[in-house]
Amino acid sequence: MSTVSNSSTRDRVVIFDTTMRDGEQAPGASMSLAEKLELAKILEDLGVDVIEAGFPIASNGDFEAVREVSKIVTKSTIAGLARASTKDIDRAAEAIKPAARGRIHTFLSTSPQHRDFILKMSQEEILEQVTASVTYARNLCGDVEWSAQDATRTEQDFLRRCVEAAIRAGAGTINIPDTVGYTFPEEYAAIFRDLIENVPGADTVIFSTHCHNDLGLAVANSLAGVMGGARQIECAVNGLGERAGNASLEEVAMTIKVRGDALPYRTNIDSRQITRASRYVSAVTGFPVQFNKAIVGKNAFAHESGIHQDGMLKNPTTYEIMTPESVGQGATNLVMGKHSGRHAFKDKLKALGYELGDNALNEAFVRFKELADRKKHVYDEDIVALVGDALSHEGDTLVVTHLKVVAGTEGPQTAELTMAVDGVETSATATGDGPVDAVFNAIHEIVPHKAVLQLFQVHAVTEGTDAQAQVTVRLEEDGRIVTGNSADTDTLVAAAKAYVKALDNLVRRRAKTAPEPMIASGF
Ligand code: KIV
Ligand code: ZN
Repeated sequence: MSTVSNSSTRDRVVIFDTTMRDGEQAPGASMSLAEKLELAKILEDLGVDVIEAGFPIASNGDFEAVREVSKIVTKSTIAGLARASTKDIDRAAEAIKPAARGRIHTFLSTSPQHRDFILKMSQEEILEQVTASVTYARNLCGDVEWSAQDATRTEQDFLRRCVEAAIRAGAGTINIPDTVGYTFPEEYAAIFRDLIENVPGADTVIFSTHCHNDLGLAVANSLAGVMGGARQIECAVNGLGERAGNASLEEVAMTIKVRGDALPYRTNIDSRQITRASRYVSAVTGFPVQFNKAIVGKNAFAHESGIHQDGMLKNPTTYEIMTPESVGQGATNLVMGKHSGRHAFKDKLKALGYELGDNALNEAFVRFKELADRKKHVYDEDIVALVGDALSHEGDTLVVTHLKVVAGTEGPQTAELTMAVDGVETSATATGDGPVDAVFNAIHEIVPHKAVLQLFQVHAVTEGTDAQAQVTVRLEEDGRIVTGNSADTDTLVAAAKAYVKALDNLVRRRAKTAPEPMIASGF
């Protein structure tokens, strides 16, 4: 595999990130094209070997995202997902065409539950389709990964035959997903050992883990898979993914790094970029990182009890197995104030991992100045929120331009709102049961819709009463779930912008088409 070098005696484990594909399948976690492009750059800086950028047949948006990510990423391999049909594989091949290194990731279910209830195919039919789909994909791309969906509930002898068929047809990576999060570490390791020992050609491919977290075992299972012989881990930033999510990238990478004594493996992950990736994914999806989340949680390096604090002062190794700096969680930096210039701002952005084009930089600088006028201390977290906000609102057709709210003990609470809708300004005044309700009612008057509010969440970006509020709004309409985020020192302005951003995403999503359900066709 071109992305792996063997310069060290430790076995290299390929990190395959699926935040933009499996992660985005989590209800409400959708990302815009601009957000995906920014995330792709962050993942590349992080040292991810393979970025699964989407499922190109799923929608034009997914296709475009895979294609555009393929254009800008130079070091990581870009994978596009495809079911076992010519239509899917053609679309994936087309989307990854601009990539310096592209991969078609094709899958078919193998378990009795999926064979009988979804595919209605016999074992022999599955085997034929594995051969046909992988052969077809290999004719379009030199790097093909094959996944046995629901592998861990598949009869082991049948799984061996499927893996053999995929290897014979030319797959270079064989993924054994625990699709429903059902397996446990020893069992999962044994599946890999058996395949590696007994399937002809197993020594010519890389085996991969893909673990869902339904029983909270995704990371443990992924590492057990590696101990059983797998050399690729599929994972997602913050453990994002279907249902309870996927194995968390930061947890697998740091376990391999910190426990090198017991796990003689290495990855290409630059762990100092982990916090940046985590914060970005949390901000754009609106999925908060739980305070006590391993590696990236707010409390992951906080020491509250006197005994712990005393130990930490004597020697940090008493209660810390890794340093906050090693995962990019430095102490909060006071960065700049209203007198800071454009050059210093640009340098700061660079240090935080952002390289903006001239226009985006100018816009971000104007917003920084406005923020510095309103807020005494501007911290790194403020800059990250500000830039994230500017990037995610790029190209919006619905824009909040003016908001005035009357709140307090004497009702009715009232909101006067002006919005640009496709460039045309419209105003409305509405009352509500509280100021947030009044603001949302005013938006409703300007953009009538039947979406239902599923989530309204506010958190402070930094400490202090002048902190920026990061607001997340999630809306649902006819099964479509969309999220909008915004940050502002005024919570109501952030709320209005987040709601309007969610509506903007909804308008885009209405244009998307869902893929047809998979049936045994196409070959
Ligand atoms: O969980 C799963 O089985 C998947 C496959 C498509 C790889 O996500
Ligand atoms: Zn999955």
